Amino acid sequence: MWLRPLRPEDRTMIQQAHDGADPTDLENRFFNASFSMTEERLDYLTVLDFVERLAIVCETADGYPIGLARYGLRDDGNVEIAVVVQPEWRSRGVASLVLQDVVDAAVDNGHTTVVGECLATNLGACALMARLGFTQTAASDGVVAFSKTFDTEC
Ligand SMILES: CC(C)(COP(=O)(O)OP(=O)(O)OC[C@H]1O[C@@H](n2cnc3c(N)ncnc32)[C@H](O)[C@@H]1OP(=O)(O)O)[C@@H](O)C(=O)NCCC(=O)NCCS
Repeated sequence: MWLRPLRPEDRTMIQQAHDGADPTDLENRFFNASFSMTEERLDYLTVLDFVERLAIVCETADGYPIGLARYGLRDDGNVEIAVVVQPEWRSRGVASLVLQDVVDAAVDNGHTTVVGECLATNLGACALMARLGFTQTAASDGVVAFSKTFDTEC
């Protein structure tokens, strides 16, 4: 498997992945089991400047996308990460690999605080964040917040 930047041409892939997604996965990823994909959301998810918003795809050697992680700059100046892996490719380290690459890119781009949110019921994602060195900062309304701060001057 290998990693590459997400491109605007991946629009159809994102749409198809959304169309085939299990409601539980939509709820875990978007906190909304009936999250619908609009043209505006596809624009937001695929047209990236790779400084304030960036996404990395994990593909098999024959070009099949199996995982995707991204970050986006929030109004508070922190970047927020998110990740999703195709169900048949889970528990093999794909999320750990692609999410760490996104965190590294965020730090390389000068972002000092990386944050993430998971549903409290999403134990796998919460464990993943802890494994990547994130600290739990808050928990309310069934959502757990994680954060990791980097010294970009080192
Ligand atoms: C949460 C999610 C991203 C995890 O993806 P994943 O690829 O299975 O994650 P990883 O493989 O990196 O880690 C999961 C497990 O695999 C194990 N693992 C890591 N590397 C491994 C490897 N090389 N070989 C075998 N297992 C490995 C980890 O120890 C971990 O174990 P755990 O099940 O006890 O936690 C995935 O379940 C998903 O897409 N869920 C829906 C969307 C979502 O919840 N996103 C998070 C909120 S944005």
